[in-house]
Amino acid sequence: TFQTIDDLEPGQQLLVRIDVNAPVEDGAVQDNRRFARHADTVAELLADDHAVALLAHQGRPGRDTFVSLEEHADILADHLGREVAFVDDTFGDDALEAIGGLESGDVLLLENARMCDEELPEEDPDEKADTEFVRTLAPEFDAYVNDAYSAAHRSHASLVGFPRVMDAYAGRVMETEYTANSAIQQREFDGPVTMVLGGTKAEDLIPVIEEVDDTVDRFCLGGIVGELFLRAEGHDVGYDVEGTEFFDHQWENHADTIERVLEEYGDRLNLASDLAYEAESDERAERTVSDIEKGTSYLDVGTDTAEEYADLVAESEAVFVKGALGVFEDERFADGTVEVLSAIAETDCFSVVGGGDTSRAIPMYDLEEDDFSHVSVAGGAYVRALTGERLVGVETLEAAADSA
Ligand code: 3PG
Repeated sequence: TFQTIDDLEPGQQLLVRIDVNAPVEDGAVQDNRRFARHADTVAELLADDHAVALLAHQGRPGRDTFVSLEEHADILADHLGREVAFVDDTFGDDALEAIGGLESGDVLLLENARMCDEELPEEDPDEKADTEFVRTLAPEFDAYVNDAYSAAHRSHASLVGFPRVMDAYAGRVMETEYTANSAIQQREFDGPVTMVLGGTKAEDLIPVIEEVDDTVDRFCLGGIVGELFLRAEGHDVGYDVEGTEFFDHQWENHADTIERVLEEYGDRLNLASDLAYEAESDERAERTVSDIEKGTSYLDVGTDTAEEYADLVAESEAVFVKGALGVFEDERFADGTVEVLSAIAETDCFSVVGGGDTSRAIPMYDLEEDDFSHVSVAGGAYVRALTGERLVGVETLEAAADSA
């Protein structure tokens, strides 16, 4: 087990890793459920007279979502009801000066950790601890708090380097998500277990299908992940959201695994039988996958597919959702995601909805969080927890507690 913020003496200078990785629409950072959850942790720390420097990441280099954290500071400030200073630097002189000026009850947010070269390459925690990034920042603080459960599957400097060289504690989000997600693994279900997989992060999801095969009886696929499987079945899809290049790249990387998964688990996989797109009139239009035309961007599963998935969900004992079935931020393409979530909400099954972006659909479409067993702000970390995989960010907190 790890130490939590309950074990901290009041009035310390803290480096706190949060995960406010968020969607960016037309260049503007969108609030997601992560901000409010981390704001609660920060409020609790400030009430205990700590001084807090927040560290976080946004997007991945090369993607449109790889932007500064300046707007994130404002969104956090709205949730906290007080100013959050933004520092346009991570561990250079400006950052050190701002950290040096922190007083009890102050909070600031440092720049996107992924703008530092040493943050990203997946390396052993000991190597991450030996980066200039970690060696420069660590001495400025009394302790490190990791609240970023949703990034705890990544062996990045800001997540695993600091707990190697500092006293380290789990924040509230880390603690509650870890407890809820670890408990899922211990459960046994009498009836069918369904997993709904969508969204864009194919590399996180395809291996999951092979790893949860003892627990999950059937999978319903949508989003980019679903389209990759449709491509494997010979359909000419993949002209959407992030562009053809993104899709082709995913296809090149995963085609072999997808074909293997199809061969081995084909009878448990449900793929869309129809898809929705934007017609010239700007309205939603649909076509069956057998009528697919090259070059169309598909933005949601079609009505028949949504109904079929909703029926499967309705007769399940447990349902796990990761990723959206369509671009639900646009009302015209929300049907698949909303229909499936509503079907879950109406049954008594055990249900978990995860994904930093996906969980946003719940308040957006007036669904009640209480109608689900657990709504996780984590995506990749939550599906890994389902497979029983240990999360390196949690392991480094546990190791820090052992050596404390
Ligand atoms: C997430 O949004 O799931 C986490 O912040 C991890 O982001 P990543 O998949 O870009 O590492």
